[in-house]
Amino acid sequence: ARLVVLASGGGSNLAALLAAHDDVAFGARVVGVVSDKPAAGALDLARDAGVASVAVAPADFADRAAWNTGIGEAVEVFRPDWVVLAGFMRILSPEFLARFPQRVLNTHPALLPAFPGAHGVRDALAYGVKMTGCTVHVVDDGVDTGPIVAQAAVPVLDDDDEAALHERIKVAERSLLVETVGRAAREGLRVAGRRAVFG
Ligand code: GRF
Repeated sequence: ARLVVLASGGGSNLAALLAAHDDVAFGARVVGVVSDKPAAGALDLARDAGVASVAVAPADFADRAAWNTGIGEAVEVFRPDWVVLAGFMRILSPEFLARFPQRVLNTHPALLPAFPGAHGVRDALAYGVKMTGCTVHVVDDGVDTGPIVAQAAVPVLDDDDEAALHERIKVAERSLLVETVGRAAREGLRVAGRRAVFG
């Protein structure tokens, strides 16, 4: 299966997918990396791995709608079977999602529906939960609201700060993402209402 990964940051989740795609049993290859940030470390990772990459920066477009069209076209060029948002910090429009129906997956560093949004780790820490984790879900028109595909629990330690907790979550998140994307690619993913099931 052909994967396109969207990332805004350093790309440790992308790195995990790139390492997995060298294993033929994974059943998928990253064929393109797209970022909204020209300086994103994820683009350097792609280049180092010999994977095509492109930056689609909002500043290069007249408005947000034009950017959504631009990034949609840039992703479509790679003919993805799956689009994986791995630390992608922008909200994608319904028009973008309609190009890849039920085929856009996102990883979020909390146990959705708890702590959605851009500060899930900070919010969990501030709330005082003893257990948080990460979630891979199908992206729908809401923010972190789509059908849940997989989750992993991660304990919060008494002396955690946001960085320490996020790093612990990312260890679980990287393996959850590789396992989930691999299964979706090999087995398929059926979405019925709020339920997403492999097969
Ligand atoms: C991940 O924890 C992701 O869930 C969150 O931002 C982090 C990105 O990390 N949205 P990286 O860029 O993959 O290292």
